[in-house]
Amino acid sequence: MSGGIAAYKACELLRRFTESGHDVTVVPTAAALEFVGAPTWAALSGKPVSTEVWASVHEVPHVRIGQEAALVVVAPATADLLAKAAHGLADDLLTNTLLTARCPVVFAPAMHTEMWEHPATRANVATLRSRGAIVIEPAEGRLTGADTGKGRLPEPGEIFALATDLLARGEELGGATVQDLAGRHVVVSAGGTREYLDPVRFIGNRSSGLQGYALARTAAARGAEVTLVAANVTLPDPAGVKVVKVETTAQLQEHVLEASTAADAVVMAAAPADFRPVDVSIHKIKKSDDGGSPEIRLTQNPDILAGLAADRPNDHIVVVGFAAETGDATGSVLDHARAKLLRKGCDLLVVNDVGGGAVFGSEDNEAVVLAKDGSATSVPLGSKAALAHVIWDRVLGLLPQS
Ligand code: CTP
Repeated sequence: MSGGIAAYKACELLRRFTESGHDVTVVPTAAALEFVGAPTWAALSGKPVSTEVWASVHEVPHVRIGQEAALVVVAPATADLLAKAAHGLADDLLTNTLLTARCPVVFAPAMHTEMWEHPATRANVATLRSRGAIVIEPAEGRLTGADTGKGRLPEPGEIFALATDLLARGEELGGATVQDLAGRHVVVSAGGTREYLDPVRFIGNRSSGLQGYALARTAAARGAEVTLVAANVTLPDPAGVKVVKVETTAQLQEHVLEASTAADAVVMAAAPADFRPVDVSIHKIKKSDDGGSPEIRLTQNPDILAGLAADRPNDHIVVVGFAAETGDATGSVLDHARAKLLRKGCDLLVVNDVGGGAVFGSEDNEAVVLAKDGSATSVPLGSKAALAHVIWDRVLGLLPQS
C-alpha cells in the first residue's frame, strides 16, 4: 500500500486475504506507515514488513517478492505511486516489486477528485492500463474531509471479490489475466423495481440483484467500463463500477437507455415490474370504516429489453435478456424461452428454470444461454460469477473485434 488515509481500509482487505487462506506479504511505502504502523501489518500478515530494499538483503526481497507473487494488489494507490509505477521508478521495496512482478497487478486508487482528474494522473492511469495493469475506477462518495466526489477506495470486500475472481480465472486460464473487455463499455441492470401505490407501499418482486452484481463485477475484472443500474439492491457497490440507483421501472428505463447510447453491450438482469398502479396516491391510503378494500387498477410498464432490441442505441450493441421460466402444459422451459428470445428480439437470452422459486437470493445459478442463431449453451450449477463469465464470453463473440 502507498501513503493515503485509506490505508486503514487495507487492514480489512488484508484480513479477508489471510482468513481465506492466502499467503500475503505486505509491502508498504514509508508514507503508508505514517497512516498505519508496521506492527499492525506484521501482526495481521504474520510476517515482518519493510519499506526498503535494504532489509534481509541476502534474500533479495526486491526481486523475490514480485517474482513469487500470484497477484499484486496496491490498495490504496496514491497519485504519486501511480506516477512512479507508470514511469518505472524503483526507489523503494514497493516500486521494485512492481517492476519484478509478472503476475496480474491491480491498482485501487484513492485520492481527492482533483488529483484523480488531473491530466498527469489521467495519463499515468492510461499508461498503466495500456501495459495490462488493472486500475480500478475509484468510488464516489465522502472523501477525507467533509467533501464528496470521485476518489474513494472501493469497499475492501469488493476489492477482495475482484482479486479472487482474477486469481480463480487466472488459474482456469493457465495463469493469464484476460483483460478482454478493456476499452468496452457495458451496461448491466440489476434488482427488482418497485411501483408505488402511495408514499409507503409498493408492488415489488423477489430479485436480489446478486446475478446483476456478479455480471458487473466480472466485467470490471475483465477490464470493461461498467455502468450498473441497480433497482432497490442493498449489496455494496462492486469495485470499479459506476452504480446508478433507481426504484421504479420508468427510472430503470431512463438510466439504462441513457447509459446504453455508446455502450457495446447491455445486459438486462433486472426484474422490472411488468405493471404499475394507474393512480399513485400522494397520501397514505387509509382503511375505510366499512371494512371495504381499495381496488387497484394496473397498467403495463414499457418492456425495456424489447424496446432496446427494436430501437438499438447504436449499430454494434449486443442486447442480452434474462428469462425466468417454468415449464407448463403448453411447453417446456426451453420452448417458452425460445419464443421469448424471438418476441424480445435480443441477441442472447439467459434462461433460468425457476420452478419452485430456485435462483432468487441464492449464491449459485444454473442456466442455458440461448442465441439468436439457435445455439444453446448449458451452464451447470455454479457460482453466479461463473455464469457471468460465460455470458461475457458469448457477448465478446458477438462484438465486432476492435
Ligand atoms: N424486462 C424488461 N422490461 C420489462 C419486463 C422485463 O426489460 N418491463 C426484461 C427483463 O430484464 C429480462 C427479460 O425482460 O431481461 C425477461 O423478463 P420476463 O419477466 O421473463 O419477461 P416478460 O416479458 O415479463 O414475460 P412473461 O410474460 O413470461 O413474464
